[in-house]
Amino acid sequence: MHAAELSQLVIAPAETDEDLEALIAVRKIVTPNARPQVANLRHALSSSTAGLVFLIARLADEPVACGFVESSTESFAAADVAVVPNMRRAGIGSALLTEASRRARSLGKDSLQLERKSDDASRSFLERRGFEKVGGEEAVSLRLAGDPAPSVPPDGITIVSRRERPDVVEAMYEVFVEAEQDVPGAPTGETIEAWRAREIDRPSRSPDLSFVAIAAGEVVGYAVLDVFGDEGHHGFTAVKRAWRRRGVAMALKRAQIDAACRRGLDRLITGSEERNLPMGSLNAKLGYRPDPEWSTVVMRGPLQA
Ligand SMILES: CC(C)(COP(=O)(O)OP(=O)(O)OC[C@H]1O[C@@H](n2cnc3c(N)ncnc32)[C@H](O)[C@@H]1OP(=O)(O)O)[C@@H](O)C(=O)NCCC(=O)NCCS
Repeated sequence: MHAAELSQLVIAPAETDEDLEALIAVRKIVTPNARPQVANLRHALSSSTAGLVFLIARLADEPVACGFVESSTESFAAADVAVVPNMRRAGIGSALLTEASRRARSLGKDSLQLERKSDDASRSFLERRGFEKVGGEEAVSLRLAGDPAPSVPPDGITIVSRRERPDVVEAMYEVFVEAEQDVPGAPTGETIEAWRAREIDRPSRSPDLSFVAIAAGEVVGYAVLDVFGDEGHHGFTAVKRAWRRRGVAMALKRAQIDAACRRGLDRLITGSEERNLPMGSLNAKLGYRPDPEWSTVVMRGPLQA
């Protein structure tokens, strides 16, 4: 592409449904296994307290790239940049990264953090711009077939779906605040409003496939899940420190597997930070197997001028 053509590139916030559909179209070309939905994007925009902006880049009205930028509780802004394959090596990704940097700067941030597929060629694009790997999400999945073993919770623990107990959301947040500190590499300090929007109210979250563990009236753990067609994508699984190593998380995930089978889902997908031994071991014990197609590396680097 010539410089003159690149000067026709228009990068703008994706705000209308048409913009969001264009963004989804680009995302599906770049990452065919992604499951973006307008309802989730709309919800994220309307509930964000962190300056979330989705970006869509068009060349002669044709969507060619997309991205986002959002503040975090640390000094970096979370971001993404994706260019359709036939438009790469033409400066579009750089332009989008510069725009994401400009917006991150105005949010008071000094760096960007992006996730890439672990085998993605764009990793070297970021490395050439000073980005380094700071973590990784290892994905695993479980094919659902037949009747799962019944879920038997440990003594004194009751497992109930979140639909049955809509009153326990604040108590779930207390579990989150304690547990998030034990996830390697995870930023901490998310407000209850931001947590609730992401973990509870997101349109794809299923209250029937999300469960809480209760001991003598106290919420001691929870596990949440999104449904996309015939796939379930696990969200956070968390148990209060005083209740760990007693089989609480195992019972929560077994309840999810059981409910997912009854709902007729085909597959459950999840991931955990590569240093998160407890979660990695738990998933392996439940029969989840590595699914590199979904694994990502987390890259952090300087704002681009
Ligand atoms: C991961 C977590 C939910 C596990 O909860 P838990 O109730 O203690 O887990 P369980 O007692 O059901 O453990 C079941 C199995 O998982 C594995 N496991 C759990 N904790 C482990 C640890 N600290 N080290 C190694 N393996 C562990 C073991 O295989 C265990 O079986 P075993 O006790 O018979 O050996 C809990 O450690 C936690 O809340 N961590 C912080 C939040 C987090 O990292 N969530 C996952 C984000 S993706």
